[in-house]
Amino acid sequence: FDIGQIRNFSIIAHVDHGKSTLADRLLELSQTISKRKDNKQVLDKLKVERERGITVKAQSASMFYDYKGKRYLLNLIDTPGHMDFNFEVSRSLAACQGTLLLVDAAQGIQAQTVANFYLAYGQDIAIIPVINKIDLPAADPERVASQIEVAFELPASECLQISAKSNLNVDQILPTIIENVPSPSGNINKPFKALLFDSWYDTYVGVICLMAVIDGRDKIVSAFSERRYEVSETGIMYPEQTPSSSLQAGQVGYFVLNMKALSESHVGDTFFDHKHIGTPMPGFTPAKPMVWAGIFPIDTADFEKLDHSIAKLTLSDSSVVIQKETSTALGQGWRLGFLGTLHMDVFRQRLEQEYDANIIITAPTVPYKIDYRDGTQKLIRNPTEFPDLDEVNAKVKSVQEPMVKSTIIFQNDCLGDIMVLCGSRRGVQLEHTYLDENRVLLKYRLPLAEVVTDFHDELKGISSGFASFDYEEDGYDDADLVKMNITLNSKPVDALSIILHRSQAETVSRDWVKRLKALLSRQLFEIVIQATIGNKVIAREGLSALRKNVIAKCYGGDVSRKMKLLNKQKEGKKRMKAIGGVEVSQEAFYDFMSKK
Ligand code: GTP
Repeated sequence: FDIGQIRNFSIIAHVDHGKSTLADRLLELSQTISKRKDNKQVLDKLKVERERGITVKAQSASMFYDYKGKRYLLNLIDTPGHMDFNFEVSRSLAACQGTLLLVDAAQGIQAQTVANFYLAYGQDIAIIPVINKIDLPAADPERVASQIEVAFELPASECLQISAKSNLNVDQILPTIIENVPSPSGNINKPFKALLFDSWYDTYVGVICLMAVIDGRDKIVSAFSERRYEVSETGIMYPEQTPSSSLQAGQVGYFVLNMKALSESHVGDTFFDHKHIGTPMPGFTPAKPMVWAGIFPIDTADFEKLDHSIAKLTLSDSSVVIQKETSTALGQGWRLGFLGTLHMDVFRQRLEQEYDANIIITAPTVPYKIDYRDGTQKLIRNPTEFPDLDEVNAKVKSVQEPMVKSTIIFQNDCLGDIMVLCGSRRGVQLEHTYLDENRVLLKYRLPLAEVVTDFHDELKGISSGFASFDYEEDGYDDADLVKMNITLNSKPVDALSIILHRSQAETVSRDWVKRLKALLSRQLFEIVIQATIGNKVIAREGLSALRKNVIAKCYGGDVSRKMKLLNKQKEGKKRMKAIGGVEVSQEAFYDFMSKK
């Protein structure tokens, strides 16, 4: 294939702006797939993805298209559409020379449109603005085109206006790509060189690596990790794996290298001809887990089974980091590191749905860095590891927390409330722009810990669901943080410890204790709930026993009736977990944990 007739492109968009629908239309138009009656999208494969309507794992496809008497090979590199997966977006973009920036004609520019634009802009690739859903009654393509001009300095007149759903103007897209996206610039006669930008585990063939071939054409490759691999199969995604004898410079396709585990495939790795190891492509910094949470089986007898399920699930998601953990309150479990809270939610949901797991998950924690006066450093992924107040006072030089730069886009009328929310979450405003007379774009620098709890929910509440939000990591800052411990009847419950900013310690402690009281309100014995920081009790609630209420109904009479009632009460506790000797239902606990 002449490299001049290859185009590698992607589609970037805010969630729900129609990326998958457009991708399917393009595959139909190029006859890669036949028109589907069931309207199911080809590129979104996993069950959770379909349910949540979000693309979690990038899926790519190749197509052939005839234009002005020539046959072109077009490689569509799919990108995930959520902020937790920005890292995957940038690695997908590194394999393209151009991208379609897709914006909903009714909703206009949203936070992820902005974030994705900058990721593409940073890669220096061609950006083609496309306004989708112009068939909607609420569509206002002219307004959206002018937003695009204001926000990105892309001429409004150059925006394509389409409806992926009703197939309007979709036929303009592939010609525009061919005309405006440069072909890849590799050399077929040079030794083999390829960039690995995605990989997944296939139950039948094992690890599959998606690579963009930069130079050469060869079947034997050797990794820059200096491991040698034999290529047992290679080919293109058309749209399923379709073997071909070789892949050449400019092409994007899959390689089966007989890797034992997904962890062997390092995204951003460069592969070379084993006799010509050259300079690796600028790699990506590997995804660092920024949200950690403990996962525990509800029933300790499920430990082995769950261990197996988690191991299997991480085969198809190498960005999850696993460590074993033991909690005095919850028993044996794992501490898992995720890219963000959505990533965590998706993982939990898959564990429950695909592996029928019955689990409890603790409040998400961000990683904290501790600098001790003696020069040593410690990275904290679990609040229980955080030094107590005495130790902080005596030995710690500084504590640092991860920060993010966030973009929030919304209607003008919620401006005041959103600024108050950001302020209460220790945010500092960086930018305030009007995209048009009603749409506001705010940029805030916020501690990550403040956005991984219920920030997004609050934002949605304030804006009746219309605010959109995205963030990128922005280093670490010094912070005055303390650990709050919870005790039940004077026994510390390690799983309930959290890290707080000193200024919020009192309010949050009082609130936690109150909410804990509500959570624990159906117990058989008296409980005293306390929140402590260091040796100081910050908040306290007492809960009197409930047992007599159940038995009271039988007026002390019949013993067997009494037993029956008590047993009934036991049955109601099927999905309950004992936390520090107190039984709590899984749903209630999860609900409790996901609020700040
Ligand atoms: P993620 O995978 O979550 O990023 O979403 P997406 O951007 O791939 O969006 P998807 O293609 O799933 O479309 C979201 C919704 O918009 C679906 O209900 C589509 O049917 C609808 N949709 C897509 N394109 C159009 C269009 O041109 N017009 C109208 N009216 N609806 C559209």
